[in-house]
Amino acid sequence: MCGIVGIVGSGPVADRLVDALRRLEYRGYDSAGIATLDGGLIGRRRAEGKLGNLAQKLVGDPLVGRIGIGHTRWATHGAPTEQNAHPHATERVAIVHNGIIENFRQLLEDLARDGYSPKTQTDTESVALWVTRELDRGVAPEQAVANTLKQLRGAFALAFMFKGDENLLIAARSGAPLAIGFGEGEMYLGSDAMALAPFTAKLAYLEDGDWAVITPTSVVIRDMDGAVVERARQLSQVSALLVDRGNHRHFMAKEIYEQPETISHTLSHYVDMGAEKVSIRETMPFDFAKLTRLTISACGTAYFAGAVAKYWFERYARLPVDIDVASEFRYREPPMEMGGLSLFISQSGETADTLAALRYCAAQGQHVASLVNTQESTIARESDVVFPILCGPEIGVASTKALSAQLTALASLAIAAGRARGVLNAEQEADLVRALISVPNAVSRALGQEDRIVEIAKKLSKAKDVLYLGRGVMFPIAMEGALKLKEISYIHAEGYAAGELKHGPIALVDEAMPVIVVAPSDELVDKTLSNMQEVAARGGKIILITDEAGAATVGQGVAETILIPQVSNFVAPILALIPVQLLAYHTAVAMGTDVDQPRNLAKSVTVE
Ligand code: F6R
Repeated sequence: MCGIVGIVGSGPVADRLVDALRRLEYRGYDSAGIATLDGGLIGRRRAEGKLGNLAQKLVGDPLVGRIGIGHTRWATHGAPTEQNAHPHATERVAIVHNGIIENFRQLLEDLARDGYSPKTQTDTESVALWVTRELDRGVAPEQAVANTLKQLRGAFALAFMFKGDENLLIAARSGAPLAIGFGEGEMYLGSDAMALAPFTAKLAYLEDGDWAVITPTSVVIRDMDGAVVERARQLSQVSALLVDRGNHRHFMAKEIYEQPETISHTLSHYVDMGAEKVSIRETMPFDFAKLTRLTISACGTAYFAGAVAKYWFERYARLPVDIDVASEFRYREPPMEMGGLSLFISQSGETADTLAALRYCAAQGQHVASLVNTQESTIARESDVVFPILCGPEIGVASTKALSAQLTALASLAIAAGRARGVLNAEQEADLVRALISVPNAVSRALGQEDRIVEIAKKLSKAKDVLYLGRGVMFPIAMEGALKLKEISYIHAEGYAAGELKHGPIALVDEAMPVIVVAPSDELVDKTLSNMQEVAARGGKIILITDEAGAATVGQGVAETILIPQVSNFVAPILALIPVQLLAYHTAVAMGTDVDQPRNLAKSVTVE
């Protein structure tokens, strides 16, 4: 999603703006730009594609100035061209924007009547033009922005810089994240703490409806009614060091390989290893024993974490779970029993649909719990209780280590719920906890299959379509496998419940269609393997992900087998995840795609 930065201060800003944008690259973008004031006049440099293109432009044609704004754009309205790249500017004002101005057409129609016409296809330019008309009418910058904000509908974070005023930035937030950073004789703004980490750790997050007037030495924040408000300053935990790829070719590979460590980290938060018990440190404003239902909402990969957790909460805690993708849930307006528990899963903690679902549930009198990686995020801040996943910054756009950490935390919560509801006794809890403790080591062993997976991936990279099958807890893993392959290799893939195959998708099966079957040896393995034989009988090329016991029961017809370590059924989905991640990764590498920043995708999806 788009990323925003701004600096108003004492030293040159152009290089620092580009550095800050680099730290926002992980959000996904397709063009970038910065603007500064040089002698009071707005200067801009923008470029299509990667930040390197912008940096190169700046080498040939530098920008001076001690105030500036910058942007990485993930196109929503208008193609990702230089012309549509931000900052958008008139002679009087430059702006950067994350989000969508829903009523931009009406705004432009109104502006056209006064002779203000856009030069781009973006929704954003309507804001720049509206502010300009205010300024042309003699309204001062602050008031011009205040008047403009009242006209805007949609979700946005905005930053404004004005011709002739080297000491003024204005920022506004309504639905998309924006943080203000406090320095010495210098102030900053940015989409998240990552962007601002090299400048300052002292941050305040704007709330929806807030707008801030920022000078090198002061920040005044107002709410949507214009009243001055205080927003708590906090010390960000985000490291100033730009997370690097280590010895890996891509962040995604690094993040896949980090999983034994990140899962251990998550476990050490949720599990008392000595006592073989789950221990939840967060104060829970609800009692698992009294709940009649748990509602989970999330998007994409985080949704699959919830889909696995549904099996766990229902089996190990006998707690019924409703789960939906947040973009559907939020508009369904389901009736909810007062005092129920709603759980929102989000790596970034900023996903617009998940946040909207959270707000709906809060308004329905639900206890709001979230499972996030970014503890300073909006979803975290709006939750009654935040369960951290603690896997460190995830930079690869395709989520990997966040999912295994989410699963680890959710497994722990399911055990805690099972104990509280009297479904699990101490011995059963200890069994499950031992299984969880064994995961990091088992994941290391699963990673040892890489060489074999590289060979299989080379063949997979020739396919046009791939089917993934799984049953029970392996069904969400099959869907995740398909999503990962689609995202980074651009090969069409579908994840199906193995039992559904004969109800339609089997018609697709032929010799050209690889079918990846995720079936470690659980109580359902025989059923999945029968579905697999139905594929084999029709000439489908089967790649089977299973463990030794599963492999021992397989008959004819399997083209390739990828073994995962033999572990308890409870944690098997976390293990089965590793080969599907590696398969997608190596297929993408074989195809030469941009693994860490796949086309059209954003890391943090802050628009609907
Ligand atoms: C897939 C992926 C996305 C995210 C989804 C939700 O690899 O990364 O599907 O899982 O956009 O994002 P968060 O978890 O930040 O809410």
